[in-house]
Amino acid sequence: MSETDGLVSAYVSDADRDAEATVRPRRLAEFIAQDRVRDQLDLLLQGAMRRGSPPDHILLSGPPGLGKTSLANIVAAELGAGIRVTSGPAIERSGDLAAILTSLAEGDVLFIDEIHRIARPAEELLYSAMEDFRVDVVVGKGPGATAIPLDVEPFTLVGATTRSGLLTGPMRDRFGFVAHLDFYAPADLETLLHRSARILGVPITPEGAIEIAGRSRGTPRIANRLLRRVRDYAEVRADGVVDLDTARSALIVYDVDALGLDRLDRAVLTALVDSFRGGPVGLSTLAVAVGEQPDTVEEVCEPFLVRAGLLARTPRGRVATEAAWHHLGRTPPNGIFGADSPAAPDLFSLDTDQP
Ligand SMILES: Nc1ncnc2c1ncn2[C@@H]1O[C@H](COP(=O)(O)OP(=O)(O)O)[C@@H](O)[C@H]1O
Ligand SMILES: [Mg+2]
Repeated sequence: MSETDGLVSAYVSDADRDAEATVRPRRLAEFIAQDRVRDQLDLLLQGAMRRGSPPDHILLSGPPGLGKTSLANIVAAELGAGIRVTSGPAIERSGDLAAILTSLAEGDVLFIDEIHRIARPAEELLYSAMEDFRVDVVVGKGPGATAIPLDVEPFTLVGATTRSGLLTGPMRDRFGFVAHLDFYAPADLETLLHRSARILGVPITPEGAIEIAGRSRGTPRIANRLLRRVRDYAEVRADGVVDLDTARSALIVYDVDALGLDRLDRAVLTALVDSFRGGPVGLSTLAVAVGEQPDTVEEVCEPFLVRAGLLARTPRGRVATEAAWHHLGRTPPNGIFGADSPAAPDLFSLDTDQP
């Protein structure tokens, strides 16, 4: 792997964490786009504050990098409440969760990231805490075990998930408010880039922002990361201004193309087109052709390639779309795409919700 790998991954890296803290929106008014979600949350929070009681539990779903963690923190900030942060995988035993729940202060926000990965016994404990603000802690084992009911202060659970389809029905039913975050339109990412640039003290031109926004896969995390890399380039190789030229030149150096594809994404498409005449070809064969694990190709590359209308998953295997041939600068062989073959879908209007 080269050091530019992961530049357009939507997953958070260790290097991202500190950098993200600087530009993370703190209040609802700073949170860009997602107007519907913002509006609904605003009503929910204002209503709760008027009544003087914690709002309904909130579920935030959507792909990585779109603002779930930011929103969880914003909910607490808007309520003026404390926040406890944990994650599904971190809660291994229900006792861990009971300890957290019983230590909450009245009105606190409990943020559970990746909530679909919570262990089942802990999940069941969470049900009664969410519904009745009490938990039964089981002490001892076997026939002598007893359940001790403990009170939990009224709190608001904010759950985040990238895979809402993996949540159990009972879990989902206990959230009074469910928001799904969508990929951002390029214009919204431009706004976001101007805001981040201002906070970081980086001069950026409108054309520079457009160029970076277009390669950010509809994802704020990627937009902010590309901005940091382009800033490096602008400071080292140019006059420090992020404009069209520095953005273009930097993204060539970092191997991020005009659609936001990186080296591996392009390797997959190139193999599909050049070695398999566009497919169909099986996932494992394709993975061998690019020297990667099938999982990596399937989970890291394919979701975006599919969303961008460059690759289709068919029952007979992976197929390059007509747009993929053109994106690679190749002419599709005559006749493989008939006049009625579907056009590439619009990158940002696809519904990417998991069933
Ligand atoms: N609507 C937004 N407005 C401004 N910045 C955002 C927005 N959504 C996300 N970001 C930025 O993107 C980064 C990743 O967002 P995060 O909330 O961590 O995403 P998630 O938890 O969904 O993976 C944050 O550091 C934040 O700076
Ligand atoms: Mg997060």
